Amino acid sequence: HARLRGVVALDGPSGTGKSTVSRKLASALGATYLDTGAMYRAATLAVLRAEVEPSDSAEVARVVRAAALIVGTDPERPSVSLDGADVGQEIRGPEVTGAVSAVSAVAEVREQLVAQQRRLIGEALESPGGMVVEGRDIGTVVVPDAGLKVYLTASAHARAQRRTAQDVSEGRAGDLDRTHADVQRRDALDSGRKVAPLRKADDAVELDTTDLGVVEVLEQLHKHVESRGLLA
Ligand code: DC
Repeated sequence: HARLRGVVALDGPSGTGKSTVSRKLASALGATYLDTGAMYRAATLAVLRAEVEPSDSAEVARVVRAAALIVGTDPERPSVSLDGADVGQEIRGPEVTGAVSAVSAVAEVREQLVAQQRRLIGEALESPGGMVVEGRDIGTVVVPDAGLKVYLTASAHARAQRRTAQDVSEGRAGDLDRTHADVQRRDALDSGRKVAPLRKADDAVELDTTDLGVVEVLEQLHKHVESRGLLA
């Protein structure tokens, strides 16, 4: 079976199907997988637990530095833990979702997490098989020399629908209007922040997933991986 070599960077706003296709792509290509959004979410949970205001950047940076944040890289079993306990569920809840843009706008938080991400990516590339890394700034900041950069988009409506369906299927309350408002609020915050804003890298392939299913998106990704010569 063909295996991925190097890094595939997948960026874009929430609800584009990024996590689903990143995991499936990694599984299909015998690669590891890094969900950087899960890291910002776990850092945000640490801030909320410490009862620090997300706008107090010095305190936020201190809390995140002290937090033991571990993220797994197996695409079949994604895992995130904070201070020794699994937080995979809690980081998807509304409290974290509401505060994550503020925490991820803090420059020191990004410095810490980007350093950790680069360490994990470096370790992954030491063993055979590549890595699929998803986030907002992977192609622009974390791995600017990635073998393939993809920027996923979709209409705000399609993204809100997907996020709501995901909430329902994972046992959380689904609220389309609230999710639509939240998706647009986070887009504005993530794209408008000073440090590493969400944007397409100049050399990224842009893929609009509004009218595409998971299988079709994966077909496109496989095609690009192959045409870049990233299969061993
Ligand atoms: O992909 P997600 O929805 O789990 O990401 C949660 C938040 O984390 C997102 O609103 C912005 C932030 N984030 C970031 O700033 N940089 C990344 N590389 C990944 C996520």
